[in-house]
Amino acid sequence: MINLLVDVMMKVSRPLRSKTGITILVAGLALLTLTSWSLQSEELDPNQIKFPNQFASWEATVEQDESEDMLAQYPASIILWAGSSFAKEYHSPRGHQFAVADVTHTLRTGVAVAEGDKGLSASCWTCKTPDAPRLMKQMGIEGYSGANFVDLGREIKSVVYCSDCHVDGSAELTLPRPYAQDAMAKIKLPFDKQDSTMQGAQVCGQCHVTYYFQPEKSNKVNIPWIFGSTADDIEKYYDTRRFYEWIHPISKTPILKARHPEFEHWSRSTHAKKGVTCITCHMPQVSDDKGQTFTDHKVAGAMDNFDKTCISCHSSKTALAKKLDNAKNDINERARNLELLLVKAHYEAKAAWDAGATWPQMNDSIMAIRHAQWRWDFAMASHGLYAHNPKEGVALLSVATEQITYGREALARILAQLSVTQVEYPDISTKQTAHAAIGFIEADAIKAKQAFIKDEVDKHWHPVAKTGY
Ligand code: HEC
Ligand code: HEC
Ligand code: HEC
Ligand code: HEC
Repeated sequence: MINLLVDVMMKVSRPLRSKTGITILVAGLALLTLTSWSLQSEELDPNQIKFPNQFASWEATVEQDESEDMLAQYPASIILWAGSSFAKEYHSPRGHQFAVADVTHTLRTGVAVAEGDKGLSASCWTCKTPDAPRLMKQMGIEGYSGANFVDLGREIKSVVYCSDCHVDGSAELTLPRPYAQDAMAKIKLPFDKQDSTMQGAQVCGQCHVTYYFQPEKSNKVNIPWIFGSTADDIEKYYDTRRFYEWIHPISKTPILKARHPEFEHWSRSTHAKKGVTCITCHMPQVSDDKGQTFTDHKVAGAMDNFDKTCISCHSSKTALAKKLDNAKNDINERARNLELLLVKAHYEAKAAWDAGATWPQMNDSIMAIRHAQWRWDFAMASHGLYAHNPKEGVALLSVATEQITYGREALARILAQLSVTQVEYPDISTKQTAHAAIGFIEADAIKAKQAFIKDEVDKHWHPVAKTGY
């Protein structure tokens, strides 16, 4: 096609000296550029040609474009996460196709940093794109994690993709992220030794898992499972290392942060024991119009799949939906009560510090805040906990409630010793009042973000960073 066009152009524009000749040449060149551009953009992905059903369903996650503003739903979390970027913006997850665009646009990842500043680690790209394992290979793991998030933005060209879960160009499953390979070995489930059922869950577990950035190793991603993957095991690991994510600006607590421990919660569920995995519920077998069965790659809500999967063990959709609803309400109610206690504890600690309390006096209550908030977070950050493992969810929240009650009793004794009779608590009735309490001005952050998007992302980043915006 292109050769033919060049040929015709050369012939027609031979009388170059004439004005028409030049016009024809210019018009021809323009057409040539346009044609080769459109040929390029229509160029099919080899995975699309080879596996059209899997590809089309993978692409269809773009239809799941809704997410909820979690800070508006429970503004108390703004106080609990004060001092970290989680207090700025936090939305519930949506379809895989948005992963790169959402991490680009969230206020959490901020804007480009000033020359000489380190800023946010590139590790934030790790669970969004197959470009992350590619860059780890090219730059070395610590070369990648030591780089700045914004500086690698122009390198990101695809979103949660075939090669994140498959050996490229085939159906064989794999874990391209080295830290995930290590983590599965730590809990004695090395990927290579598992059957395809467990391997299916493990590919999801590369990203749907809790992690932290290792400060002593250039912020590389690590999954803290040396002692095991329960909240107690992970807490023991962090406590032994005296690790913390940030010092809470109100109470001076060294805070631990959980991130979406879906794999952990699922792994201890009744379903896991029966061999029911993420794939059974979120990626069921379906058939195309020719009757060919394939795995549905439109990873979405599981209740929509009731007739394809749950029905083999649960007889009534209504009954199951009601069970889920009850579990969700129960967990939410316990969490909302606990948050109020945690917020109070942070301010009671502040009042004690302000009145001259010392570390030997405060140690027990500060550790109680750390441990209670860790369990609250390990439950709250786990999307779908009420479906995946409601029993563990309730247990986490009740232990946390006991811990914070103990911590507040200790604080009450310290406050009495210091003759403090009144503690000021913040207004956390809305996202706005809670933001005001920690001195965060959302409008300013949005303005700075918009300028960054316009100057950097719109001009220099791949369109995948704009999906949905
Ligand atoms: C998030 C992980 C993930 C991504 C991304 C992903 N797959 Fe899969 N894929 C799976 C899992 C899990 C299975 C089921 C494997 C099993 O049960 O043995 C599967 C199965 C398959 C199969 C086997 C046939 C079938 O339908 O069961 C093919 C082929 C396939 N995927 C192609 C693709 C292609 C092409 C892409 C990219 C457009 C892709 N996959 C993206 C996880 C993924
Ligand atoms: C490479 C990392 C990665 C892998 C692998 C991965 N996910 Fe995700 N997943 C994400 C991210 C990031 C989001 C949130 C995207 C957003 O909100 O922009 C997400 C969102 C989701 C959602 C929410 C969808 C919605 O519409 O609300 C579900 C469900 C989900 N993933 C399940 C799975 C399952 C099941 C697997 C394994 C087959 C899997 N994920 C594998 C990163 C990953
Ligand atoms: C027994 C079936 C089942 C299994 C197994 C399961 N899930 Fe879920 N998952 C659900 C249900 C039900 C929900 C609640 C939302 C809905 O109605 O689908 C959910 C919710 C989620 C969400 C939150 C979606 C959102 O938009 O808030 C994510 C993410 C998720 N699951 C990932 C996983 C991962 C990863 C695994 C494996 C480690 C897994 N799930 C195992 C049934 C299951
Ligand atoms: C292979 C059988 C099997 C399949 C498939 C299955 N479940 Fe279950 N499920 C069980 C068993 C067994 C239990 C525990 C006994 C009970 O509570 O009924 C259970 C319990 C539950 C519970 C109660 C809470 C809990 O974890 O104990 C929920 C909610 C649930 N399943 C949701 C689902 C959903 C949603 C699907 C489909 C997306 C599904 N299940 C698919 C076997 C299955």
